[in-house]
Amino acid sequence: MTAVSEHLAHPMVDRFGRVHRDLRISLTDKCNLRCAYCMPPEGVPWLSKNNILTTDELVRVAEVAAVLGIEEVRLTGGEPMLRQDAVDVVRRMAAIEGPSGPLEVSMTTNGMALPKHAADLAAAGLARVNISLDTLSKERFHELTHRDRLSDVLAGIDAALAAGLNPVKINAVAMRDVNDDELVDLVRFAARSGCEMRFIEQMPLDAGHVWSRVRMVRGEEILESLEQAFELTPLPGRGAAPAERFLVDGGPTTVGVIRSVTKPFCGACDRVRITADGQLRNCLFAREESDLLTVLRSGGSDDDIATLMHRCIAGKLPGHGIDDPGFLQPDRPMSAIGG
Ligand code: 5AD
Ligand code: SF4
Repeated sequence: MTAVSEHLAHPMVDRFGRVHRDLRISLTDKCNLRCAYCMPPEGVPWLSKNNILTTDELVRVAEVAAVLGIEEVRLTGGEPMLRQDAVDVVRRMAAIEGPSGPLEVSMTTNGMALPKHAADLAAAGLARVNISLDTLSKERFHELTHRDRLSDVLAGIDAALAAGLNPVKINAVAMRDVNDDELVDLVRFAARSGCEMRFIEQMPLDAGHVWSRVRMVRGEEILESLEQAFELTPLPGRGAAPAERFLVDGGPTTVGVIRSVTKPFCGACDRVRITADGQLRNCLFAREESDLLTVLRSGGSDDDIATLMHRCIAGKLPGHGIDDPGFLQPDRPMSAIGG
């Protein structure tokens, strides 16, 4: 049971009226792939093990967040399944009751652990899963991720579907001269397996700082190349979701495009993040963090946690400003923030 005082037990609303319903928790910054847009081949310096939030700490934070109006928890990484007790985390999170019902728990994963664990995850209460897959070519996958593991990811997608996780979404970052000739094939592949394909504009979040605005494949280009093969009908009802969704050839297949850079959706953002080492972030691109770890480890009360969360959201900027001349990439790489 949480002990959040009444004056703090209300939704997290920022200065622009955005109500925060979606909490993204990074379970670990470690990963067993090295996607070029995320990590250099040699990896990045890992977060200090002593600072990684324990499962009890994560559950406590999620309980307070539920009182503050969080309805959905998305578990991310690095690769969240590299955390030994990931299934247990799901079970405990899914059992948390907020004012409007139990938390909905989903996960973004590279899929490699799903052949082994998809059924356990579903039984533990995982509602949905997003699996990252940028290419269907074994050689390209190896080149892009520095690991020859395409078949494991494909088996992971099958396992997720067999476990009844629904919907299964497949995320691909569109990259020039890497996979921009495969977008149609990826949609066909997803349609055959009953998944939704989603294409993401590459964001400046790579540890190597090699992102280039000029080389980035823009959402418009993604749509143009899909339209060469399919008839796309926009679907209404996007809400706070980053993806613009389309029916493919009249349905039932759908495809999503996430134009984080060229058509930012910050105005409807309802997300707040916690890094694996207990730092609250009000944006992927935030330059400041709120130190939840210290509150948790210095005997802070549930009210102290709630106060820090409200304060973090109160400082949220209107947008990520990738297009501003003074834009600075966050100090942490994506793997240490969580997607
Ligand atoms: N730009 C866009 N998407 C990214 N992801 C990781 N790094 C980036 C980036 N720089 C995606 C992954 C995964 C999710 C966690 O975020 O493909 O689907
Ligand atoms: Fe790992 Fe995801 Fe980063 Fe790829 S994008 S290296 S799967 S954390």
